[in-house]
Amino acid sequence: MATREELLAAAGALGTPLYVYDLDLIRARLERLRDAFGRHFGVSFAVKSNPNVALLKALAPLVDSFDVSAFAEAERAIAAGMEPERLTFCGPGKRPEEIRRAVRIGLGELVVESLHEARLADRFAGELGTRQTVLLRINPATSPRAFGVNMSGKPSQFGIDEEEMAAAIDALAVLPNLDLAGFHIYSGSNSLSHEGLAENFGILTDIFRRATAHWGQKPRKLVFGAGFGVPYLPTDAEIDLAALAAEVLPGIDALKAEPAFAETELELELGRWLVGPCGWLLSSIIGAKASRGTELRICDAGFNTHLAAYGMMGSVIRRNWRIANLSNPEGSIERYTVVGPLCTTIDTLATKLELPATSIGDVIAIENSGAYGLTSSPTRFISHPEPREALLDGGRLTEVSESLLNHWRLADN
Ligand SMILES: Cc1ncc(COP(=O)(O)O)c(C=O)c1O
Repeated sequence: MATREELLAAAGALGTPLYVYDLDLIRARLERLRDAFGRHFGVSFAVKSNPNVALLKALAPLVDSFDVSAFAEAERAIAAGMEPERLTFCGPGKRPEEIRRAVRIGLGELVVESLHEARLADRFAGELGTRQTVLLRINPATSPRAFGVNMSGKPSQFGIDEEEMAAAIDALAVLPNLDLAGFHIYSGSNSLSHEGLAENFGILTDIFRRATAHWGQKPRKLVFGAGFGVPYLPTDAEIDLAALAAEVLPGIDALKAEPAFAETELELELGRWLVGPCGWLLSSIIGAKASRGTELRICDAGFNTHLAAYGMMGSVIRRNWRIANLSNPEGSIERYTVVGPLCTTIDTLATKLELPATSIGDVIAIENSGAYGLTSSPTRFISHPEPREALLDGGRLTEVSESLLNHWRLADN
């Protein structure tokens, strides 16, 4: 885990706002995941959670697949050294040109989310004189009660409704240039509930069994959208992976004991659990004032740099994330409202936040920022400098920024 000194040194060397990703910690989490689930499941990393090419380069040799959600993410993955055959391509709005390119590069599995997509892929594969391997994405009719973000059981652009899966399998099976390899389900994310996660594995296994029975073939691959959450809030606790595995794996053993699944490759697809806790957004306090009884601290990272930490990525209520004052960790605890530099009242990072006494020049760290940080943020809003990005590997800091929008002009003055 990156130390306070390492993070402060990074902020000193590269300035703020700055995202720092700790590769040692990513490797350690992956090892924990493999220890708990590795005998049964491969690991697929969802590139959308952090598409930084240098980070992908470090991850490519460590995981089994990358899941991409746009052809440009496939290009990033390939630039990072990932083989096209180890890519899956999900996404409800693939453009025809993206599908054609995916087929042309020999992408591992195209995850078809509609029959329209399947027919396009079939046509392009025919034109290119090849066959495209596909997985059918199924949208469950039910989902665990205790799940966080939930995509199933309602009208949805994601995958084929479970109620329609039999007809879709029949329609897919006759497309001459497609090779159906199995099924994919991703129906919820960011759950910390042991009960909900375990129930989800049961729901997915049951659907996969029924889809396979209808199909009458042995699937080569089944993708389980894991939905593993991370403890964003101070009151959240990490998932107990070993306990979860102990509950879930007997059901998976039973599945694997059936002849149809004995040879099937199972994969856990996730993003935030792997990289979220391994990243920090470092920000400097650039203003301090008291207003009508509230101590305000203004930092240089607004929602333009981290939409999720500001509660704008699907949260119903904004809650304070885990934030630390790196510059003065031992100070007396005070209460602050922390805001960003944007000219709107919604640019509020934290209210009634208890932090060691914080003054102008201090560096704060927003924890759990390794996933859906920079990639999910509207960096062009109000044209502040885009955050830099850096990797920490064995204590060594390397800048891996991909865009330095607005930085150069500032540097010139
Ligand atoms: C198809 C698919 N797979 C994987 C993920 C990754 O989810 P998470 O980062 O919560 O693990 C998502 C997130 O939206 C997704 O839509």
